[in-house]
Amino acid sequence: MKVILASRNEGKLREMRIILSKYGMDVVSRDDAGIPAFEVEETGTTFEENSYLKAKAIMEASGCPTIADDSGLVVDALGGEPGVYSARYAGEGCTDDDNNELLLRRMESVPDGERSARFVSVITMLFPDGRKLVAKGTVEGRIDRCLDGEGGFGYDPLFIPDGYDRSFGVLSSEIKNSISHRAKALSELEMLLNEEKR
Ligand code: IMP
Repeated sequence: MKVILASRNEGKLREMRIILSKYGMDVVSRDDAGIPAFEVEETGTTFEENSYLKAKAIMEASGCPTIADDSGLVVDALGGEPGVYSARYAGEGCTDDDNNELLLRRMESVPDGERSARFVSVITMLFPDGRKLVAKGTVEGRIDRCLDGEGGFGYDPLFIPDGYDRSFGVLSSEIKNSISHRAKALSELEMLLNEEKR
């Protein structure tokens, strides 16, 4: 089955390709599918809404089954921030470094026992015949006190998953791809696809 991945984020594309290749899908990025580089406005207030908006826009442009993920970091001590605004936490056009710097600053006075956080991923798969599958995954952890490592992308150097004492910026991509929010959402999507076949 040919499936378009709605994301243009290189870090996400890399991870989703590795994970989806296990499921026998012929995965093509929206750029490789020749879809014009318009931005889908993420006007939703939940991960669910934004992943649906992205999947719908790209499915309408491609006419193919489409998978879109909306994801982000939810920090308890900050009332759930940055949440759906994770990509643009430090403002429109900001970089991962800007976002990490702002997060560190806002967490400066938060004690060790209160630094819990989770990555959340909601994946929506839409088919041209109107079918819709929605899968969600989370990984629990805590926010580090300084940047640790340069691997991964986004907030990875600041996020220490439960059960480990180093960040996703240091842990291998094999480890991240086996426990991450996106891996869990994709494995739920696989279950939903299997149910569809029955
Ligand atoms: P989206 O493209 O609107 O879903 O924004 C997701 C944003 O959340 C990314 O730009 C990152 O800042 C952050 N994010 C999501 N997943 C991850 C991850 O696995 N590692 C690090 N940051 C992530």
